[in-house]
Amino acid sequence: MVETRRKVSAVDPVWDRITNEALETVRNEPLMGGLVHACILHHKTLEKALSYRFAAKLASNEMSMVILREIADQAYQESPALIEAARADLVAIFERDPACHRLLQPILYFKGYQAVQAYRIGHWLWQRGQHDLAYFVQMRVSEIFGVDIHPNARIGKGIMIDHAHSIVIGETAVVGDNVSMLHSVTLGGTGKEEEDRHPKIGDGVLIGAGAKVLGNIRIGHCSRIAAGSVVLSEVPPCKTVAGVPAKIVGEAGCDQPAVSMDQRFTDCGCDD
Ligand SMILES: CC(C)(COP(=O)(O)OP(=O)(O)OC[C@H]1O[C@@H](n2cnc3c(N)ncnc32)[C@H](O)[C@@H]1OP(=O)(O)O)[C@@H](O)C(=O)NCCC(=O)NCCS
Repeated sequence: MVETRRKVSAVDPVWDRITNEALETVRNEPLMGGLVHACILHHKTLEKALSYRFAAKLASNEMSMVILREIADQAYQESPALIEAARADLVAIFERDPACHRLLQPILYFKGYQAVQAYRIGHWLWQRGQHDLAYFVQMRVSEIFGVDIHPNARIGKGIMIDHAHSIVIGETAVVGDNVSMLHSVTLGGTGKEEEDRHPKIGDGVLIGAGAKVLGNIRIGHCSRIAAGSVVLSEVPPCKTVAGVPAKIVGEAGCDQPAVSMDQRFTDCGCDD
């Protein structure tokens, strides 16, 4: 076991760090031993650990853990982009969430991370035409985590969904890389458009808690959407919008608001 971990650590310092954090957790809190062994220490790679976590969380009387684990194992094996995105999401949370002190935390405890990884497997199934299995994954993710992401939605990497209660992302939504969002965000339709009817969120956008972005509108890269806003029209890049309906209230204030999680107000002198 130790030999194996050494071999893996030579090529995967992230997994090495996670296993060391896991060992420390068990040392500090022996009552966590069973969970930490099952979720981390029992596995040789990050993808095997994520596959186990996916299956353990989503299994029910309707679908066994064995089947779910086979699905996830196959997904990670056939699509290296999935594990690349899972790593980018992990690092994004570690860097942006002040409550995240160890890489271990999102894997064990953060439902935003777990929900996004499960969505990614559902999206992989959807792309292969396995729509019923993809819908099943969407349903279980919604039931377990309160995060409802349609498997056809396209979501980039380096995503942080903090707190993650009540997230809704519609069928034709697109979310770029390095986007951060807080709880109760909706990327939905207005009910007036058909087919391609959901928002397109650019790279590096920060979406505040409770914001509703409605319709097939483009949110420019590195913009910020204030908590509680209802965004009904296009947002240019690098702006801050707020209100119901949302209006431009300032510049985004920095190059990558979603990465720096800069939530200060920066006046741009706009009065529209
Ligand atoms: C309200 C709604 C039904 C649109 O109704 P509508 O009569 O077609 O309204 P319009 O789009 O023509 O907008 C009329 C005015 O109301 C405003 N408005 C529209 N929707 C609004 C909303 N949700 N909140 C606040 N103001 C809204 C518009 O900005 C516009 O203001 P203006 O005249 O000053 O420019 C629609 O915007 C809506 O909110 N649908 C529900 C969507 C939803 O819940 N989606 C989630 C899917 S998961």
